[in-house]
Amino acid sequence: MKSIAIVCILLFAMAASADSPKPRQVGSADGQPVFEFELSNGRITAKFLSYGGIIRELHVPDKVGVKADVVLGFDDLLGYLAGHPYFGCITGRVSNRVAKGKFTVEGKEYTLATNNGPHSLHGGAKGLDKRVWKGEYVSDNGVKFTYRSPDGEEGYPGNLDISVTYYLTPANEWKIEYEAKADKATPVSLTQHAYFNLAGHESGDILGHELQLMAAKYTPADGTLIPTGEMRPVQGTPFDFTKAKPLGKDLSAAGGEPIGFDLNYIITPGRKWPALAAKLKDPKSGRTMEVYTTEPGIQLYTGNFLDGKNIGKGGAIYKQYGGVCLECQLFPDAVNHPEFMSPVLVPTKTYRQTTIYKFGAE
Ligand code: BGC
Repeated sequence: MKSIAIVCILLFAMAASADSPKPRQVGSADGQPVFEFELSNGRITAKFLSYGGIIRELHVPDKVGVKADVVLGFDDLLGYLAGHPYFGCITGRVSNRVAKGKFTVEGKEYTLATNNGPHSLHGGAKGLDKRVWKGEYVSDNGVKFTYRSPDGEEGYPGNLDISVTYYLTPANEWKIEYEAKADKATPVSLTQHAYFNLAGHESGDILGHELQLMAAKYTPADGTLIPTGEMRPVQGTPFDFTKAKPLGKDLSAAGGEPIGFDLNYIITPGRKWPALAAKLKDPKSGRTMEVYTTEPGIQLYTGNFLDGKNIGKGGAIYKQYGGVCLECQLFPDAVNHPEFMSPVLVPTKTYRQTTIYKFGAE
């Protein structure tokens, strides 16, 4: 009887370990192995790297079930290690810009690594996007990445323990849960920097994609993309996406250097939580994407700086406007703007964010 029970337990354990997928080592960075994790909900599939928490592939069906890979990226880790404009990665500690790389927290001034003219962009010279995270599969069809950002990294105060968990849910959502704990007060504003092209990553520009933003106001910025502190209505400006319109429609009128959208919108709080912030649609394939978030801001960036120099998956050439980013986060440079929601995380609190990209076809 006892031996039958042992055999049963062994068989069960073998079946369970056969079921739990193994991440695939795809190379190494900073002397540490980097793994790729694959998730599927039966309809959408995705591949993630433990380097930078990168989404490398995301295959989504159109209305007749034909799948396309809708995120820009590279075939292998080397593509990412060679340098890239933040394709599909986690950015931080503070996403977007910190003016002149300086801020004061609890009476002490800190100086960050600057990497964008005089400013610090997306966490500095070696932000979270260029770090090797630990990864593990978790239940409910997820993969969890964790990283300890040490005290002083890129100039930021305190140790920061970060986790980012990606799920593919039965409702065709790519759901992202972020958490962070600090042992000294530090600014934190994380985001996912995926460039989406719902017609397929290699299909050309996104100017025909229709976008609606649940945002009646935006935060205007100066020529170096630092917010002025104003919160201005979008009504009557090229930045108005309160009704769906093609991204290309008012792109030239939006100006910028290079021309295109690169601005933070203030999400109008909804009744549901996380709130619906954006709807994107590719009229040709019918693929749609809704964005839900707990964050107050969403950065619309139309890939203005893409210049065809990045040779992506399958030899795809990513030209200007080849993808669109919808980055949910606190407002840019909020640490230097008392009028914006503070990004300062104190040791007694936990940073939490949920953002969902939900796919459909019509
Ligand atoms: C910023 C752009 C920046 C880009 C880098 C976006 O989040 O808003 O200004 O050039 O990231 O890829």
